[in-house]
Amino acid sequence: MNTFNCIAEDVKLGENVRLSKFINLYGCEIGDETKVGAFVEIQKNASVGRRCKISSHTFICEGVTIEDNVFIGHGVTFTNDSYPRATKANGELQTESDWKVESTIIRKGASIGSGATILPNLEIGENAIVGAGAVITKSVPANSVVAGNPAKVLRYVDSEPAAQADAAPIPFLDLVTPHRELETELTDAFRHGLRTAGFVGGPIVENFEAAFAEFCNAKHSVAVSSGTDALRFAIMACGVQPGDVVLTVPNTFIATVEAISQARAIPEFVDIDERTYNMSVVMLQRYLEKQCIRERSGRLVSLRTGRPVTAVIPVHLYGQMADMDAILNLAERYNLIVIEDACQAHGAEYFSKKQNRWMKAGTMGSAAAFSFYPGKNLGACGEGGAVTTDSAEIAEKIKCLRDHGQVKKYQHDVEGYNGRLDTIQAAILHTKLPHLSAWNAERRDRAAEYNRLMEREEVVHLPYEPSWSRAVYHLYVVRTNNREEMITHLKNAGIGTGIHYPVPLHLQKAYVSLSYNLGDFPVTEAVSSEILSIPMFPQLTAVQQARVVREMVSFAREKASGPVQLPENTVTEEAIKTA
Ligand SMILES: Cc1ncc(COP(=O)(O)O)c(C=O)c1O
Repeated sequence: MNTFNCIAEDVKLGENVRLSKFINLYGCEIGDETKVGAFVEIQKNASVGRRCKISSHTFICEGVTIEDNVFIGHGVTFTNDSYPRATKANGELQTESDWKVESTIIRKGASIGSGATILPNLEIGENAIVGAGAVITKSVPANSVVAGNPAKVLRYVDSEPAAQADAAPIPFLDLVTPHRELETELTDAFRHGLRTAGFVGGPIVENFEAAFAEFCNAKHSVAVSSGTDALRFAIMACGVQPGDVVLTVPNTFIATVEAISQARAIPEFVDIDERTYNMSVVMLQRYLEKQCIRERSGRLVSLRTGRPVTAVIPVHLYGQMADMDAILNLAERYNLIVIEDACQAHGAEYFSKKQNRWMKAGTMGSAAAFSFYPGKNLGACGEGGAVTTDSAEIAEKIKCLRDHGQVKKYQHDVEGYNGRLDTIQAAILHTKLPHLSAWNAERRDRAAEYNRLMEREEVVHLPYEPSWSRAVYHLYVVRTNNREEMITHLKNAGIGTGIHYPVPLHLQKAYVSLSYNLGDFPVTEAVSSEILSIPMFPQLTAVQQARVVREMVSFAREKASGPVQLPENTVTEEAIKTA
């Protein structure tokens, strides 16, 4: 000990601990042969193992456990409260009893670079290396090298566990990790729901609605019980009448079409664009010009069904928006209501030349539907959905429809539905919402990494993102001419995949009554047998992506398969626009 140190009596020091000057220690434990540099503070209930090196100016707070043989660089900061506040609700300064300590564990052999900041409630795995200046926001796998803000896995150092990680299955979607990362906050939200017992409606739902509207840049958001309900209510509230024709695409989840027919309208399809897989504006224009007549009254009538065509639902599939300027122009010309199916596109953006600005999914049509199904970019721990709109009138109609058509208690102006979002799901969604932008950014990074890895390999067609789009990659969809075998190969390598969607809706048994035939929508039909969704989620690591690509490349080399060749005469939107 020396006179420049402040070492409380309750500190437990092991044998041969070497302490520099200007150290502040209280209530902590330090193991044998550990060396502590100058200006280090270690707080109560923190423990440092044996043979560790703690460099100068580091702050180790309560709740931190450092195992043996750990290296900590200069000026490393630990934290132990995800939501610190200076004052209580009544304005008084918080005291120690208000502090909720979260724990952090640094497993043996890990090294933390100088200037790193470690957020609480996470684990840094054995032998992991954290780069200087990194900000650690989630647990770090053993033997990985991480860097950046927020830190990401760059690679693994050679070791047995690393080899095991390389053989571990890669799921198509990982729903466990994000929930584990937010477990404390989500459990708090759930507990609050239980303790207040306001399970349906009330301020928790309203607060989420306001926050989601703000996220989308929309004036209103009305929370409902699913994306399907959101679509159905939007169709009804926007004024589509029973018997009207509503246009959409055959390459979407069945819910888009279910919502149309359950609103007692008639679905008709237009084909998709070969490259974006979204509604083709060329085909929409062709449909409106060639497959409809305008009656004297100005009413647009479908030649196919003889019914008035009143609305169009572009689907922002896979997280990428449809070409909305072009669709809105056609809709204006033909007097169509536009409802966005944004169920896969929370936060996706479109550069509108008309408006000369980037616009978010959910703000371009009269109304838009979102799904909060668990696997969505913003997912509930159950079912959920929302409609966004700038119209107060549409928002009010949807509030009425979701609540048995009530305008006030037991006064039912129309027959409605039981279609509300429950309070616990609203609280869970509100807890997750602040993370959505970061998750979307991760998805974009993961997509860029796949593009980088596969660009030169030429084994599959990559997703196409036009310059007017900022997609949020709900799915990363490639196209190959040997899909089924590739799926089997990836499955045998422990890699999960999906197909979105294998059978176009016009060919589904459920829609035989619509009387469509094979050959009616050639692009959708071709695409549906070739598209393949590969693992995509924010927590996917670069190492996992490299393995997915390695397996795809080795399969393609072995089978001499490759990307699908687009037919010579394929008319792409791009070709039309540049012609
Ligand atoms: C494009 C699309 N539309 C609508 C829906 C329906 O949403 P939900 O499952 O929440 O009813 C989904 C959900 O998968 C979807 O992907």
